[in-house]
Amino acid sequence: INIPQFREDIISWFQMEQRDLPWRKDQDPYKVWVSEIMLQQTRVDTVIPYFNRFMEWFPSLQSLADADEEKVLKAWEGLGYYSRVKNLQSAVREVAQEYNGIVPDTLEEISKLKGVGPYTAGAILSIAYGRPEPAVDGNVMRVLSRILLIEEDIAKPKTRKIFEEAVRRLIDDNHTSAFNQALMELGAMICTPGVPACLLCPVRDHCEAYAEGVQSQLPVKNLK
Ligand code: ADE
Repeated sequence: INIPQFREDIISWFQMEQRDLPWRKDQDPYKVWVSEIMLQQTRVDTVIPYFNRFMEWFPSLQSLADADEEKVLKAWEGLGYYSRVKNLQSAVREVAQEYNGIVPDTLEEISKLKGVGPYTAGAILSIAYGRPEPAVDGNVMRVLSRILLIEEDIAKPKTRKIFEEAVRRLIDDNHTSAFNQALMELGAMICTPGVPACLLCPVRDHCEAYAEGVQSQLPVKNLK
């Protein structure tokens, strides 16, 4: 893979074609954090109105730290997986108390926060702080399994590390936010499960699976 050309192709596509999503309006780490937690088990279309209302009710990290848990749960009602929002508020309170309200910008510190796993940590660091950290979820594994023809079983917990290493090699240090979000966007819009829309793909020329005609057989996911 020609890495500089790949970066340019995927980032310019993202800059032209990205969906207008409310959490992409600014780089506030708090907003990135809330959006990534909401998006973990919930589709983008469902999340949009919840995210907008959540930001009306709790516009800043401090306002969420100060809020009654009851009101916070009310704002989450319908999204499900309520441990997500309970962990979020407790982590936000930790940031308010221990970090003066500033979301930490290192992998070590941010990973200690409740509910912040490797994906969320990488998403916040790369989108809000410009750090060259991978943010690998199922969509990103699907995209990269095709581009790089990686046949590791994505159902195995250990496999995520292989994809994280791949992102570390590919990521554009000067455009970490666009790069990681471009991988997510490609997975959502073009490089979809089953039969992807390769004819519309901005990085088709870089894709090993497309060259071999095996894109529909990737990623490998063995059921337990
Ligand atoms: N899914 C997870 N994170 C996302 C983001 N930042 N934009 C769109 N879809 C996402």
